[in-house]
Amino acid sequence: MCGIVAYIGPREAYPVIMKGLKRLEYRGYDSAGVALLEKDLRVYKKQGRVAALEESIIGQDLHAHTGIGHTRWATHGEPSDRNAHPHLSASGRLAMIHNGIIENYTQLKKELTKKGYSFKSDTDTEVLLNFIEDIQENNNCSLEESLRIALKRVTGAYVIVLLDRNHPDTIIAARKGSPLVIGIGKGEHFLASDASPIIEYTKEVVYVNDYELAIIKCDELILKNLGNEKITPFVQKLDLELTAIEKGGYEHFMLKEIFEQPETIFDCLRGRLDVTKGTITMAGVQNNIDKLTNAKRIIIVACGTSWHAGLIAEYIIEEICRIPVEVEYASEFRYRNPVINHGDVIFAISQSGETADTIVAIEKAKEQGAFIFGIVNVVGSSIARISHAGAYTHAGPEIGVASTKAFTAQMVVLIMIALKIAYEKQTLTEDRYIQLLTELQAIPEKVKELLRTSEHIRNLALKYKNVKDALYLGRGNNFPVALEGALKLKEISYIHAEGYPAAEMKHGPIALVDENLPVIFSAPKSFYHEKLVSNIQEIKARKGKVLAVISEGDEVIEKMADDIMTVPLADELISPLLSVIPLQLFACYLGMAKGYDVDKPRNLAKSVTVE
Ligand code: F6R
Repeated sequence: MCGIVAYIGPREAYPVIMKGLKRLEYRGYDSAGVALLEKDLRVYKKQGRVAALEESIIGQDLHAHTGIGHTRWATHGEPSDRNAHPHLSASGRLAMIHNGIIENYTQLKKELTKKGYSFKSDTDTEVLLNFIEDIQENNNCSLEESLRIALKRVTGAYVIVLLDRNHPDTIIAARKGSPLVIGIGKGEHFLASDASPIIEYTKEVVYVNDYELAIIKCDELILKNLGNEKITPFVQKLDLELTAIEKGGYEHFMLKEIFEQPETIFDCLRGRLDVTKGTITMAGVQNNIDKLTNAKRIIIVACGTSWHAGLIAEYIIEEICRIPVEVEYASEFRYRNPVINHGDVIFAISQSGETADTIVAIEKAKEQGAFIFGIVNVVGSSIARISHAGAYTHAGPEIGVASTKAFTAQMVVLIMIALKIAYEKQTLTEDRYIQLLTELQAIPEKVKELLRTSEHIRNLALKYKNVKDALYLGRGNNFPVALEGALKLKEISYIHAEGYPAAEMKHGPIALVDENLPVIFSAPKSFYHEKLVSNIQEIKARKGKVLAVISEGDEVIEKMADDIMTVPLADELISPLLSVIPLQLFACYLGMAKGYDVDKPRNLAKSVTVE
């Protein structure tokens, strides 16, 4: 989704902004632009990549110490030069960038049109900008004051950043519902949608909260609420290294992130799991253990891949904690007046911590008195801050748009939480508990081992590269793995794919099976083995091609399947941690074989900050 970068200070603003925009490319976008302010205000923008913008303005005057930059992911108005940000106000005095959606922009536009305003773009952003300028002109007040008045009328989500040609020493920003981080340097400030454009300059940051305004000069940062009261900025230290957001020799971030999983899973377990002592240490869980063990019901809210992690957790939590679990798409949950009872606990799962639907779902549940436990990757993100308690997944920055390492880290955290609750509730025998801790500890090594088969998976991707559709099947907690495998293939290779519980196949999808349809089974060793064997036979009898993820040593399925991808043996309860990885690799290699940019799949955004 839209990316925002701004700079004010002694450096040249343009290179800082362009580098920052490139770091935010992973969020997904279709056009880019920059506004530079020195004695005059210059705006350059272009449809397409940041590199195309750069090329188009070679030779222009790019000198300035204050500037704002933007990558746009179209919401109102097609991707085009004229809809790209920054936008200029009618007088040409103000420039603005915006991430989010102004929901009542049609009404505002009508009012402005009546007053004689016309618009150069189709965007809600240009409407808001002129609305702000109109207020300023009619009330003869400061830009800050007019912004405050305007925001009280606005519904929707936004981060906006404004420049005023008459005040080159100031940047004004405001936030509601979309992320904004301010980096504090020596006599300089950096603004961005996340910390990645900032870390090479400073590790001191302030996360702006909803309904806050920031007035930023080289050596001054003032935060205020919409009531014009000053707020003391809470300065935090970033625990992030530059190398973590670079490709480190891999062709693509997605590939790098898949291969990082032995380390990310290890990092997620480190300091938490101790097999010798038989303990799991998670402060967020420990401090709220009564709420968690006494939960009457756990409702998991999430979107996309995070929702799949929630589905896997449902199997595990119900199995070992004996607490009923419901898994909800946040986008549905937020609008359907859900029944929340005393004793319900909400688990909100999100890589970015900024997914708009998940944020609102949490807020709704919070209003009804639910206890919110966030499982989040991005430290300091909105969901981390609005949850009552939580646990970070510690997967490090995930730049590839398709989630991979964050997914396995989410599962690890959810498994540890389930184990901790089960241990406290004594719904698990001591032996089984220790057995599962031991199994979990062994996962990073097993992931390392399975990644050694990557060349084989690359060859399979080449073999299946030209298929038009694929059906993914699994049972038990490997059913959500099938969903995730299908999602990865759709996102990265644009091949139509569907995931189903294997037994449901007979109730419909089997009609699709013929010699052209690959059916991909997530079938590591489990209670369902014999049943899956029957399902595979049913596919083979209809001439379908079977590609199966199996545990090493499974000669039965190996003989039946056309192709196999093997994973090390693991306890069935945690086997999705392994079985999903060949499917991630398969999708990634297939997308690469088709020549697609696997890090930036078309139409997708990394962090979906609008509903
Ligand atoms: C798929 C993917 C998305 C996200 C979803 C939720 O590969 O990445 O489906 O999982 O947009 O995002 P978060 O986890 O940031 O809330």
